[in-house]
Amino acid sequence: MKLIAVSDEEELSRIAAEILISKIKTSDRLVLGLATGKTPLGMYRYLSKYSIESKQSYDHVHTVNLDEYVGSQAYHTYMKEHFFQYVDIPSEQTHLPNGEADSLTVECKSYEDIISNLGGIDLQVLGIGENGHIGFNEPGTNFDSRTHVVQLTESTLSANAKYFIDTNQPKKAITMGIGTILESKEILLLAVGERKANAVKELFKGSINKDIPATALKVHPNVTVLADKGARSLLDKES
Ligand code: F6R
Repeated sequence: MKLIAVSDEEELSRIAAEILISKIKTSDRLVLGLATGKTPLGMYRYLSKYSIESKQSYDHVHTVNLDEYVGSQAYHTYMKEHFFQYVDIPSEQTHLPNGEADSLTVECKSYEDIISNLGGIDLQVLGIGENGHIGFNEPGTNFDSRTHVVQLTESTLSANAKYFIDTNQPKKAITMGIGTILESKEILLLAVGERKANAVKELFKGSINKDIPATALKVHPNVTVLADKGARSLLDKES
């Protein structure tokens, strides 16, 4: 696992965007796995700005998002608001799990089919939960799991409660499985702030264990972690 140490969220956002832009510019076709949440917001800002200012087309990019809440379109809305509205990726090339599907079992299977029909994910962007989750794969999730429905933990619900002030916060989500994520050809994990420091420490110094889902990434051959000072604070103390 490669660690790129950055000073703050701004630098992290810029470097993450530069990594994606270099792939976008050098590929004829690119399947990007995308994350939501607070961490990638700045990266989406840079990617959108670059597309507008440079006139670089993103029309050869296909996207598959990690997750969506059950009974909600929250992450569909997020992606339109923060990224898709600014770029020329055809909407039929953007994919998120449908949390409002009649059958969530069928939806999970179809989502796996979408990813495999695309030929897999070239580069998957991940955030990390305070409890070490990736996607919404909470502690205890099997490392060979595929897209499935999860019951969110209290830690995740309270970390994300701020986004649901006016509406009921869903307690369940559909997420790509850890097995699905691990099949991506390349993974870029973004970590910002001291609240992520323990999860980042476990990722680099801990053993591979289901209690910290991100430790599954240790078996992947091509993972880059971009972490700011806060997220590295427990690593630096020990080294
Ligand atoms: C979001 C996702 C989650 C977040 C994680 C960190 O699509 O899959 O794993 O990346 O919860 O969220 P933030 O960035 O809000 O701290």
